[in-house]
Amino acid sequence: MEKISLYKPFQSTSALTYIEEVLEHGKLASGGKFSISCKNWFLKNYQSDSVYLTSSCTDALEMAALLADLKQDDEVILPSYTFVSTANAFLLRGCKLIFADSLHSSPNIGWETILPLVTVKTKLIVVMHYAGISVDMDPLKTFARDKGILLVEDAAQAIGARYKGKYLGTISDIGAISFHSTKMISCGEGGCCIINNPEMKQRAELVFEKGTNRLAFQRNEVSKYEWVDLGSSYGMSELQAALLFSQLEYLESLRAHHITIWNLYQSLLRELQTHEKLILPEVPDFAEVNGTHFFIVLKSSDVRMQLKNFLNANGVDSSFHYLALHRSPYYGNRNHQNLPNADRFESCLLRLPIHHEVNENNVLQICGLIYAFFQKTHE
Ligand SMILES: Cc1ncc(COP(=O)(O)O)c(C=O)c1O
Repeated sequence: MEKISLYKPFQSTSALTYIEEVLEHGKLASGGKFSISCKNWFLKNYQSDSVYLTSSCTDALEMAALLADLKQDDEVILPSYTFVSTANAFLLRGCKLIFADSLHSSPNIGWETILPLVTVKTKLIVVMHYAGISVDMDPLKTFARDKGILLVEDAAQAIGARYKGKYLGTISDIGAISFHSTKMISCGEGGCCIINNPEMKQRAELVFEKGTNRLAFQRNEVSKYEWVDLGSSYGMSELQAALLFSQLEYLESLRAHHITIWNLYQSLLRELQTHEKLILPEVPDFAEVNGTHFFIVLKSSDVRMQLKNFLNANGVDSSFHYLALHRSPYYGNRNHQNLPNADRFESCLLRLPIHHEVNENNVLQICGLIYAFFQKTHE
């Protein structure tokens, strides 16, 4: 029997037609018809007027770090329980990283874990919306605005998810989304950078275009294009954009399917939570999820490993997620913070299969296995 995989990239029927169109047309670099279509999709659906398609979410975060104009002594507060790009993008600018702990009830960082870390040197706070579940943004936004601190959303996993009705990535100064092939909407490697701070919009197009005013030149606003700022080559190629556009058209139906699967996991596993065998994702009232990942939190790393092995032996893929960055081989010796919640999510969180091909029978089977595991081994 075929294994139930953790994730599987979605492919739409229009993908090949769009890619062939790009190849026939011959314009393969960024800024062509499909780049414009994707951008327009975001402008319309995300109600934003400043969106850049990048070749990864890492690129989008690096754009954010450049736009923040970080200096050597500046401090950036960020989650420890996140992907390494959240940290690298800012560290590349030479600032100091201060890791915030996850909340007790969620892998996300929050007001409670951020506030004690703020100093006069804090220049920027990065939040990451784990599994597309929103961080509580309003208190952070008010605080950051009052203190003159910039706020960035790593919304890598958050396409289509919202906070109080607003799409994640559009709430802070800058938002970054990923279209890596592990994501619900993907084009292999890809991302986008959403600029919400009006004071950053003009500079963003220079940073995006290798520090040149090439976009102004294309609009006939200048007679030649020159090197005018610091920047890099961030644009998504037209081939990626064609693939991305073929998927964006399906966002709502994909999201609806993921949420059906997510809700079924939640309801079938609730009894195990009641009996304190595991913890289910908590979704605060302000958050509308996209169902991109489903995860459970076990009591210990041993139980997690045993369950993972048991599922694997029964044809079900599962996986842990991030390794806490504050103890990483690269940054751990520069950091002596104690972040127990990040450590716990590193050791005890297990992701279960969720993608466009996972159906209700699969979830019944997976949950049945999880019940059987606890009956056999942990009564
Ligand atoms: C939280 C987070 N931030 C950033 C990234 C980087 O995304 P990309 O692979 O598109 O650069 C990832 C990748 O999965 C991620 O999980």
